[in-house]
Amino acid sequence: MKPSWSAIDRGWMQRALALAELGRGAVAPNPLVGAVLVKDGRRLAEGWHHRLGGPHAEADCLRGLPLSVTRGAHLLVSLEPCCHTGRTPPCTELILRRGIAHVTVAMEDPNPQVAGQGLARLRAAGLDVECGLLQEQARTLNRGFLTHLRLGRPWLTLKWAQSLDGRITAEAGRPTTLSGAESRRETARLRARHGGILVGVGTVLADDPGLGLRGEPGVAPLRVVLDSSARLPLESQLVRTARRQPVLVACGRRAPLQRRQRLAEAGVRVLCHGDALRPPLDWVLAQLPALGVDSLLVEGGAAVHAAFLGARLADELVIITAPRLLGRGLSPVEGEVPAFDPAHWRLSAQHQVGADSWHWWRPANREA
Ligand SMILES: NC(=O)c1ccc[n+]([C@@H]2O[C@H](COP(=O)([O-])OP(=O)(O)OC[C@H]3O[C@@H](n4cnc5c(N)ncnc54)[C@H](OP(=O)(O)O)[C@@H]3O)[C@@H](O)[C@H]2O)c1
Repeated sequence: MKPSWSAIDRGWMQRALALAELGRGAVAPNPLVGAVLVKDGRRLAEGWHHRLGGPHAEADCLRGLPLSVTRGAHLLVSLEPCCHTGRTPPCTELILRRGIAHVTVAMEDPNPQVAGQGLARLRAAGLDVECGLLQEQARTLNRGFLTHLRLGRPWLTLKWAQSLDGRITAEAGRPTTLSGAESRRETARLRARHGGILVGVGTVLADDPGLGLRGEPGVAPLRVVLDSSARLPLESQLVRTARRQPVLVACGRRAPLQRRQRLAEAGVRVLCHGDALRPPLDWVLAQLPALGVDSLLVEGGAAVHAAFLGARLADELVIITAPRLLGRGLSPVEGEVPAFDPAHWRLSAQHQVGADSWHWWRPANREA
């Protein structure tokens, strides 16, 4: 039978999820996890997973508390406690040593080294264990971790701004400002929720974007450029700021050594595929989790959108429509892309940001 949780427990778990969020940008490819310890209706402690390799949320929460305090308490955690030794010792054993009586988790950890065994260990030791409180929120919070585990690549969001008549720029190779100031701030917040941002070199040559957070709080994402021949200009904003906010250039086998060296000297990380002329998307994506990127925001342009959609590599589409007519210009997706069949997508949310309409789409046939 599904447990029924009180509004108070929901509130504590909501807090655990909010704490988990504080690790964003610092823990990937590990999951974001938060924990709250409660006894006699009072919050005794809270913690979260701060950084990769650092203490898990449970250890952070229980740190320094004597047994007399923790004995008989209720621990609410946003993810199943681990039961194996990884970078840190198993959290299940810590929970048992501290005499915790009751554990509620938002979701099981699908990592095959855990996968229900953490909960089973606690149940076998006689603890009262429940799973599933605010599960959907927990899954959304950790969609990068879950996608990496399932598919070996980051969660992918494709985002573009277009005019009412469906153009992303009035002239290919030239920038056109479409969305308003509120949407640009919202875009910065969207960036902060991703570990990386990717563009094609065509967009850099046309727009010279900074791809930063524009003062919004958060850890600045890794900026990735698909650039077969290492054409990224040394004087571009991306290169000039590479030592402050990291930049990765993915190129193909013909990228001139001298260009690659120049970029590397400027602080850019250069990855070169040994065989392909163009950096294959699956190869680029497979590199990212090890660099701490388990969610990627793809921000154009038309050729890059076509490549990702054609390879069915988008988990979410965000289309911002500005109340402008351009009458001519570049379509959001270059050429005919069979996989970009409207039947593949369902509208999941829409809202207004200033004068712009934001539409969020999800693949129709995949779980949220
Ligand atoms: N409104 C918006 O939201 C928005 C957003 C972004 C851009 N834009 C506009 O879009 C225009 C740029 O679009 P674009 O289509 O010309 O260029 P793009 O999509 O930004 O870049 C395309 C280039 O990326 C490189 N590339 C490397 N690997 C690739 C791969 N696997 N698949 C596809 N491309 C790969 C290719 O150059 P190499 O062969 O040299 O590697 C290719 O020519 C600009 O005018 C910009 O203003 C608008």
